[in-house]
Amino acid sequence: MNCCLQTRVSPHRGRLWPGYLALAAVVATFGPPAASMADPLRVPDAFEACASCHSYEQDEPAQEGPPLWGVVGRRVASAEGFDYSQALKALGGTWDRARLDQFLKDPKAMAPGTLMNLGGVSNASERAVVLDFLERLSAEQPAAVAGD
Ligand code: HEC
Repeated sequence: MNCCLQTRVSPHRGRLWPGYLALAAVVATFGPPAASMADPLRVPDAFEACASCHSYEQDEPAQEGPPLWGVVGRRVASAEGFDYSQALKALGGTWDRARLDQFLKDPKAMAPGTLMNLGGVSNASERAVVLDFLERLSAEQPAAVAGD
């Protein structure tokens, strides 16, 4: 009895493997791109310090800092209802990637007197991760980018 059960079970197990492999191949092919498209708000570690002062989801209110949804392509110091410093208002123009990079590297050097109490992100690759994240938020909101 025991011997017969085993011989019936083992070929069955053998047949399952190709199925798992095929499933793994499908997940490997379609999994990662689908996941990154479907989850634009995945917050990178490098952004966590920012999130303690800034909201980043659409229509979220300002916290200690202005909301960052749509900030790439937005006029500097233009989030409605936020009380910016004169230092930030005086910068003028629009936030593009290069200016954001400069600001994040050393906020107080670019805007002396800014209310943003952050020493700066000295690591260029960390800034790049944060900027990629901010750009993806903006890509979801083309009207703000076009508003320039
Ligand atoms: C301690 C709180 C605090 C932290 C941490 C912080 N910010 Fe800010 N941020 C502010 C404040 C306050 C302002 C408004 C500055 C002003 O008016 O001078 C600001 C302004 C900004 C602006 C200008 C937005 C606009 O509407 O013109 C950007 C961009 C920005 N922060 C990005 C970041 C990023 C990215 C990080 C993380 C690397 C970060 N901030 C971390 C408080 C903070």
